Amino acid sequence: MNKTKNDNVNKAYYKILMKVLRLNASDTYPIRQQVLIPDHDPKKVKFESDDDDDVSFHLGAFEDSKLVSVASFFYERNTLFKDQHQYQLRGMATLPEFQGRGLSSELLNMAFPIIKQNFCTLLWCNARTTAVGYYEKVGFHKFDENVFDIPGIGAHVLMYKNI
Ligand SMILES: CC(C)(COP(=O)(O)OP(=O)(O)OC[C@H]1O[C@@H](n2cnc3c(N)ncnc32)[C@H](O)[C@@H]1OP(=O)(O)O)[C@@H](O)C(=O)NCCC(=O)NCCS
Repeated sequence: MNKTKNDNVNKAYYKILMKVLRLNASDTYPIRQQVLIPDHDPKKVKFESDDDDDVSFHLGAFEDSKLVSVASFFYERNTLFKDQHQYQLRGMATLPEFQGRGLSSELLNMAFPIIKQNFCTLLWCNARTTAVGYYEKVGFHKFDENVFDIPGIGAHVLMYKNI
């Protein structure tokens, strides 16, 4: 659907309302659970290295003091890419009623300089095929056309963005 002037005005308005903060990993768990793995054991929301501040950081977008969007970033090398220092994006999720307001994009915009400060030149992710359009809009590219299954979650493709 074509975007209207109103859509852009709304987005600008939401941007003013939103606040992005650094989170503890555990703050992200309720949204990860609800949006990403609603049918899974809640224990599965935790990623290895979640609590290791040396290799991970977590961002959240708030509206009216309510946490509505989260994303986590891990210093993690994927050998398919030549970059020596890389981050992996995981657990990217916005509550359904807050999607399409630019919140996830804003989290990424806040993350890029942090990643760069840590001398990393690449951000990669295993993207759900249903979210590929989103990642392309925020500047990611497919590594290749290979679609792989992550058991219990579904079809994914490897995507990356040079930072
Ligand atoms: C994917 C997701 C994180 C995007 O969050 P969001 O806060 O709605 O994203 P934004 O509002 O910043 O969207 C940025 C742009 O991508 C578009 N977009 C969002 N989700 C999309 C999707 N699944 N497919 C195609 N485009 C999408 C938006 O419409 C917007 O486009 P615009 O700039 O032309 O208006 C959110 O839809 C979500 O939580 N989905 C379910 C969980 C999921 O799939 N997470 C990714 C796991 S790999």
